[in-house]
Amino acid sequence: MPDDKKIVEKTLRELGADSPEKITSLFTDAHERFHRDLVVHTDEHSYRELYYFWLGRKSGAISLITDNWLKPAPPELRRIVGQELNKLKAYVEATLEERRKQIEATVEEVAQARERIDLSLPGIERPIGTRHLIRQTSEELQRIFLSIGFSVVQGPEIETPYYNFEALNIPEHHPARDNMDTFYIEGAKNHDVLRTHTSPMQIRTMEKQAPPVRIVVPGKVYRRDNPDATHGYMFHQIEGLAVDTDITFCDFKGTVEYFVRAFLGPKVKTRLRPSYFPFTEPSAEVDASCHVCGGSGCRICKQSGWIELFGAGMVNPAVYGFVNYDPERLSGFAFGMGVDRFAMMKYGLSELPVLFQNDVRFLKQFP
Ligand code: PHE
Repeated sequence: MPDDKKIVEKTLRELGADSPEKITSLFTDAHERFHRDLVVHTDEHSYRELYYFWLGRKSGAISLITDNWLKPAPPELRRIVGQELNKLKAYVEATLEERRKQIEATVEEVAQARERIDLSLPGIERPIGTRHLIRQTSEELQRIFLSIGFSVVQGPEIETPYYNFEALNIPEHHPARDNMDTFYIEGAKNHDVLRTHTSPMQIRTMEKQAPPVRIVVPGKVYRRDNPDATHGYMFHQIEGLAVDTDITFCDFKGTVEYFVRAFLGPKVKTRLRPSYFPFTEPSAEVDASCHVCGGSGCRICKQSGWIELFGAGMVNPAVYGFVNYDPERLSGFAFGMGVDRFAMMKYGLSELPVLFQNDVRFLKQFP
């Protein structure tokens, strides 16, 4: 708004308005000026400016006209100035009041529009996750053992060498430690390690609990393997341990066979191959007839007809010595299986890394 109020700051005499026509013309100009102002001051903010320019109490145009034109007007022109001024004033007031209402309505409308909920919008999709394939597999394995009387326990991933090795009959410098060479925790007093298997929970459980024992132990284990298609630095195991007064090799074999059929199907055959673990004696590798070709030989079983499943055996009596169990009275069996391997086998995966890359496109395939 140009701030020239020069005209309204002068008296009629100074403006040379000495006839009714000239006065009417001055007021016509004022009307026009008001209209020009009105079209350029349209928003909420400039409305205030417009209002004070015209209706401001002390120096608004209407007040100035009253002071400078009306009051000093010669008596013969006073009437016409008064009439014109009243018309102008009434008009300006009414128009500005109208404008104020309009602006308020728009402000309100905008606020309402902002708050209005548009029910036609598509909404935010919050996909529901699924259990990871490894968890699914681990739970499936656990369920089989739960159904035949085992319970589930879990233990620490950071272990002392005593539980991870010594108490499992793996003394220091024993060559069996080689393939379990592992991650040592920096600065730990006892040379703590990331456990290389879930077997330490055999010891921890027997230390705490009197026989009979029937447990499975799911969890993560760590090895310093070179990463490739089937190896990483971490994988998942399920350990099993059953100890009681009358457990025989037959119970061991029967349990293993029951488990393999429950997991891979009723047609699958089981075989035990001699093996070695310091904490089992005798030890065995459990093989299953290939669930893909049925034993005739294929790419999956490398034409052998058999697939290696897991390590197991009868608990070595030497282990009972570490947990105050009576080796004369007690016997039992143990096993340790790789969950990731089982998941790969069951779902036909040729690579391990896909299980850990968290690519949703992969994981979604196993709802
Ligand atoms: N702990 C052994 C391993 O990780 C597996 C195993 C467990 C073997 C229990 C025998 C008995 O290789």
